[in-house]
Amino acid sequence: MERFDFQKEFPILQRKMNGQPLVYLDNGATTQKPEKVVQALCNYYGGCNANPHRGAYELSVQATGIYEKARAHAQRFIHAGKPEEIVFTKNATEALNLVAYSYGLPFVGPGDEIVITVTEHHSNLVPWQMVAKQKQASLKYIYLEPDGNLSEEDMETKITERTKVVAVTHVSNVLGLVNDVRRVADKAHSVGAVCVVDGSQSAPHMAVDVQRLGADFFAFSGHKLLSPMGIGVLYGREALLEKMPPFLRGGDMIEYVEEQDASFAELPAKFEAGTQNVGGAAGLDAAMEYLESFTFSKIRQNEQDLLDYALPRLRELPFIELYGCDSRRDNKTGIITFNVKGVHPHDVATILDAQGVAIRAGHHCAQPLMRYLGQNATCRASFYLYNTKEDIERWIAALHEVRKVMRL
Ligand SMILES: Cc1ncc(COP(=O)(O)O)c(C=O)c1O
Repeated sequence: MERFDFQKEFPILQRKMNGQPLVYLDNGATTQKPEKVVQALCNYYGGCNANPHRGAYELSVQATGIYEKARAHAQRFIHAGKPEEIVFTKNATEALNLVAYSYGLPFVGPGDEIVITVTEHHSNLVPWQMVAKQKQASLKYIYLEPDGNLSEEDMETKITERTKVVAVTHVSNVLGLVNDVRRVADKAHSVGAVCVVDGSQSAPHMAVDVQRLGADFFAFSGHKLLSPMGIGVLYGREALLEKMPPFLRGGDMIEYVEEQDASFAELPAKFEAGTQNVGGAAGLDAAMEYLESFTFSKIRQNEQDLLDYALPRLRELPFIELYGCDSRRDNKTGIITFNVKGVHPHDVATILDAQGVAIRAGHHCAQPLMRYLGQNATCRASFYLYNTKEDIERWIAALHEVRKVMRL
């Protein structure tokens, strides 16, 4: 990765922030976009823009082709069985809400259980609270081992004969730890439950095979893997998508509409109501191609190298507290969550920003996990393929500046 000219491919990385060259370490929130992706978006709007699936004219046929090509690519990208199992959404949040509304509400009943983990992002948590409340079901949590991995005991005991849904994040956006989704899915299936996987922090960073994982549903956002904002993916097993009612209703998702009733289109159109984000799909297609040109083993290796470089240096700093960095397993992605002792994370982020270093500070949309960790907020540095050891040096130098400014 070191030899590739990412500064050229991602012009935004040449920008200065507060007079300093930008070090972008907030990839868990969103990633920067390479020229090829920006170009794909421009090419679509500049040369192919039309409403897909509707027009009987050539331009609309071309727009449909671009959209469906992206779907077929997304299918290959996560090894889904068929393109019909790929539903485009606006982001992971909408994909997970689709599952909660169209699977949770119809198929969870009073006295049933929904099991999630305490590491869930609010997007895979708040929708399940809604289902549990509306259906008088209980919402149960899998908690953590001391090293941040999912509790073995909870995985065995919390999923029971009454469990209908198990929702688990593949990678925690706070701890960066890869959960053993296959194991969770096997346990869910052994009691007849479905396994809903939030792949927002895994799909951008590792090769994903939804069938090997045993995921019944798998959601991710394009913008966290180099794509434009406004395009997301939901994979659902065909047999489940077939029996689910639509999520949103309107144009494009129907077969026939009478005055009082309607029948619905085949998959995946049944779940894609209204005009879709064809430009976003074109960008997603280009982004997946870009990532595949590097291979995920190289992308993961780069993140591993950055972790190996950063963690010993951070551990030497007595004013830094780390979270999720003690896993006994080799299962960490490029996310380092930390606090500077006695300094509010927002102050840390502001001082780092003055040095040109962009990190995330706050609860990371994971308030139950924050409470579980005994913190109101933390700082998070998250890496991607264009980050380098020089970025780590700049970040750590900026942390020394925090100590100086705050007189620690
Ligand atoms: C683990 C996880 N799930 C879901 C989301 C929600 O993604 P989006 O805001 O793109 O819907 C995020 C975003 O930070 C995330 O990290």
